[in-house]
Amino acid sequence: MEVSAASDTGESSAEGTYDAYAPVYDVFTAHFGHDDWLPDLVALLERHGLHGKRLLDVGCGTGKSFLPMLPWGWEVTGCDISTSMLARARGKVGEEVRLVRADMRSLPRLGEFDLVWSIDDAVNYLTGDGELNLALAGMRDNLAPEGLLFFDLDTIHAYRTFFAETEVVEREGHRLVWRGLARADAAPGSICESRLEIDPGEEGASECVHRQRHFPEGDVLAALERAGLECLAVYGQGLDGIPDQPLDESVHIKALYVARRAPDQR
Ligand SMILES: C[S@@+](CC[C@H](N)C(=O)[O-])C[C@H]1O[C@@H](n2cnc3c(N)ncnc32)[C@H](O)[C@@H]1O
Repeated sequence: MEVSAASDTGESSAEGTYDAYAPVYDVFTAHFGHDDWLPDLVALLERHGLHGKRLLDVGCGTGKSFLPMLPWGWEVTGCDISTSMLARARGKVGEEVRLVRADMRSLPRLGEFDLVWSIDDAVNYLTGDGELNLALAGMRDNLAPEGLLFFDLDTIHAYRTFFAETEVVEREGHRLVWRGLARADAAPGSICESRLEIDPGEEGASECVHRQRHFPEGDVLAALERAGLECLAVYGQGLDGIPDQPLDESVHIKALYVARRAPDQR
């Protein structure tokens, strides 16, 4: 059995986790409504001044967070730490999309983008101290002067529920067991884990550990400011996928952040 366990060294384990998870990622997340969610998100961002169609998708995974943008004429660059996730994305889009293997903690300047986003809790994999600051600074450097940054984070409610529970998914000939290892009273700011068992008991079974950090709103706002970014809005989102204000960490499962370069960074 192949095990991609979380490291205790402070190094991100996300690369190993997602290299193991890639073959079944789309199966496990088949019910995630990116096709409905992303158009609504773009409409929301337009209300915050989004102009232009150059997108940098940070932690793009298998492409679910940029694929719906292509028919609307967006010019997409996607990056991810996992080559296996990128290979899945490449299989869907060929050369139409520029895909780059990059770690968001040391993001190179990949261009000038009207929108930089990181969708579906990719940023929560930054478990080491200071890693959020590094990622935000790299995202800032990829923004056009008037560009927007958007990312979502799992709330403490998500860690106390989804990350504390077992869920079994049987789909497309696979059996996936998500074993949340967090406590139902996980403290704000803590690091939580879940073990995903892929086809347990079968030939070719594997496991990967998802190790994520909860970021309280105050810490995120401080990190945005340190990175030379101005926060334009914070939303909470429940299972209905509809952004709501104010963010309530005890009710919402996701926190959504919209930011842009601070005035002295434009
Ligand atoms: C939950 S998946 C989301 C993928 C995609 N955005 C989506 O909506 O389906 C999180 C992604 O973040 C990537 N990731 C985690 N840590 C990363 C890092 N330090 N740099 C770049 N990508 C990272 C993982 O490899 C994975 O593909």
